[in-house]
Order: sequence, then C-alpha cells, then structure tokens
Amino acid sequence: MNEVDKLKEAISKSNNIVCLTGAGVSTESGIKDFRGKDGISSYADLPLEVVLSSDYFYSNTEEFYEYYIKCFNCLDKVPNITHLFMKKLEDEGKLKGVITQNVDGLDTKAGIKNVIELHGSIYHNYCTECFKEYGTDAVFNSKGIPKCECGGVIKPHVVLYGESLPEGAIEKSVELLSKADLLIVLGTSLVVYPAAGLIRYFRGDTLAIINMDETPYDYSADIVIHDKLSNVINKL
Ligand code: OAD
Repeated sequence: MNEVDKLKEAISKSNNIVCLTGAGVSTESGIKDFRGKDGISSYADLPLEVVLSSDYFYSNTEEFYEYYIKCFNCLDKVPNITHLFMKKLEDEGKLKGVITQNVDGLDTKAGIKNVIELHGSIYHNYCTECFKEYGTDAVFNSKGIPKCECGGVIKPHVVLYGESLPEGAIEKSVELLSKADLLIVLGTSLVVYPAAGLIRYFRGDTLAIINMDETPYDYSADIVIHDKLSNVINKL
C-alpha cells in the first residue's frame, strides 16, 4: 500500500484526529511560507529570528512594521482545499482540533471551530501602554507606526521570538494530542519550538507527516509524504 492509501485508511478508521499545521498549509492560498523554497526566511538581510523578535519590535519598531505590513497582510486571502478538507473532517466528527502555527486566520475563515492558534493572530492587536484592543485596520491601514489614541504603540497579538505562547495554548494542545489516535502534521518545517516539540505528547497509533520538504521528525512518523498538499488532499 502506498503512503497516501495508508493515510486514507488511517483517516477512515479514526474518530479522534488532530492536525498540527504550519505555513505550508497556506501557500496555496497565496501566502508565502518562511523556510520553503520561495519562503521569506530573511528580510533586509536580517534573519527571520531577528526581524520577528520582541527585541526588534521594541528597538526598531518602524522597520518591524515595514516588514510586518508587507509580509503579514493576508486579509484578502481565502482558505484552500487543505483548510476545507480539515473543516469536512471536523463536520464529520472525526477531527477534534487543529493546532496551528499560522497567524493568518484561514482555519477560522474556513469554518473550523476548534482551532488553537499557537502563535496568535493578525486579527488581534493591542496597545502596549493601555492594552486597548484593535482590529486589523489600525495596523494595516496605518501611516507610520500604528499608535493607540493614548499615544502608545500598537502591537500585533502575534507571538514573536522571545515571547511566550498565548495562555493555555500548550495545555489545550497537550490535552488534544494525548487523546488523539491519529496526528496529521501538515505544511510545517517542524523546526520552531515549542510548537514542534508538541509531537512528543502524541500517544496514538499513527503519526502522519505531509510536507514538501523533509522534517526532523520524519524518522519517527508512520506515514511520510513529501508532496504538495493539494496533490495529496485531492487523492484523499
Ligand atoms: P516554515 O516556512 O518553516 O515551513 C513550511 C513548510 O511547508 C516548508 O517545509 C515547506 O516545504 C512546506 N510547504 C510549503 N508549501 C507547501 C505545500 N503547498 N504543500 C506541502 N508542503 C508545503 O513554516 P512553519 O513551520 O509554519 O512564526 O514555521 C514556524 C514558525 O516560524 C511560524 O509560525 C513563524 C516562523 O517564525 C511566527 O510568525 C511567530
């Protein structure tokens, strides 16, 4: 049996599936990933881990926003076949949750209900002084650095390097993973922690990884598929 057929069988047998996703799930919606072949792994000669760090946000706010507004504005993008496939599995009662590193909100746009956004979301922004909350307009339509009416700088609720994950995100993920019998990892390089390390909490029968490039966890998976997600999902 080939790997796609093995996955098909595992999905048909399971009623307790969890998906762990990354930027590769959204490239076919027209959003660039970070470390894939056309990814935005650096900006203005700075590595991603610097540009997307909390230190850089506070020390080089203007430059941070130049990058952020250029690369993270995906308000006009829509879910693709992979998001819709996950939504279908959830509707059928088979998928119990999506744990995503993506901040693009496309899982929710697809109608998936149980989504854990490990790295936050571009849709939530707040003032670093008074904590007033803002939508996307305040950030993406701002001339210059986005500012609150109190004068404070507005920050996206996106987890930057050096920041902790949203409260409860790890606990909720661990609970889902420890109960799942099939974990499908989709479109992530699995190199960013703590997200990648969540795989260790999976105790179920089948770990499947679908990603264009190799990942450091391929050796531990039962099913590994290196292909474009739309090709795989179409066959499923
Ligand atoms: P990466 O860019 O590191 O990995 C995306 C993976 O998806 C790559 O290995 C690609 O080969 C694969 N890929 C791209 N398009 C694909 C497709 N159509 N079909 C199959 N595979 C495809 O993205 P993440 O693993 O999500 O953090 O990166 C993790 C974190 O690093 C991000 O959440 C981001 C970044 O720093 C924040 O923004 C806070």
